[in-house]
Amino acid sequence: MAKRITAPDIRASKGQRKITMLTAYDYPFAKIVDEAGIDMILVGDSLGMAVLGYDDTIPVTMDEMVHHCSAVTRGASHALVVGDMPFLSYEAGPEHALASAGRLFKEGGVRAVKLEGGREVAPQTKALVQAGIPVVGHVGLTPQRVAGIGGFKVQGKTADAARIILEDAKALQEAGCFAIILEAVPAAMGRYITEALEIPTIGIGGGAYCDGQVLVIHDVLGLFERFTPKFVKKYANMAADVREAVTQYKNEVESGVFPDAEHSFSMDPDEEKKLS
Ligand code: KIV
Repeated sequence: MAKRITAPDIRASKGQRKITMLTAYDYPFAKIVDEAGIDMILVGDSLGMAVLGYDDTIPVTMDEMVHHCSAVTRGASHALVVGDMPFLSYEAGPEHALASAGRLFKEGGVRAVKLEGGREVAPQTKALVQAGIPVVGHVGLTPQRVAGIGGFKVQGKTADAARIILEDAKALQEAGCFAIILEAVPAAMGRYITEALEIPTIGIGGGAYCDGQVLVIHDVLGLFERFTPKFVKKYANMAADVREAVTQYKNEVESGVFPDAEHSFSMDPDEEKKLS
């Protein structure tokens, strides 16, 4: 069994190799992603949209995150599991962040957490890192602020906006983040920030120059059908496959094809005779 990947391993990968990251929200998918050799599994608050049926990530609670983090950590023995801090679980300050991250760490079993935001969450980041909790930053499009942003829109399209995001990323690096997610920014900006930082950048719609890539597994597998962001590449069409399998099951039950002898238990014939 390969050794478990740690936050320092990820930090040291910058410039050495590309880093892979995918989300997972439950035991079976965590096990598959882990066995495929993905470096980091993010239990994202995208849970809310991909699995729980919310319109966005805003309603996701700490209890929901802890529940899903513990399922994922039971399924992953190699990847570094990162737990997402849901909306309003850290904004009030360092103590708030410590209490929330402590739950993901102790009850959920994750070995790193992720916070959305720039320089305004640097104090929280610093407190977590000082307490021994590795932190992944997240700048560019920050979906927890979708109400203020006005939708899931590309960020940092002008040079001035790119410089502001770089300053945010630098503040997070200074506060102790071991990696930083760049979401929905132009590829040129992904390069600009990747070259300027000492810590790895993980892109999701951040272009090819980032040090690594992350996607939501339900997008990758074609399981999330409400909408598909431009940066998503679908590697499977599982919703169609599942629909076909379920329809076939329904038809076979209704027509009496299932269950057949192969899927039924037999009884000793002498015992069976005693039933009549
Ligand atoms: O919640 C999530 O899955 C994320 C990724 C989109 C990076 O934050």
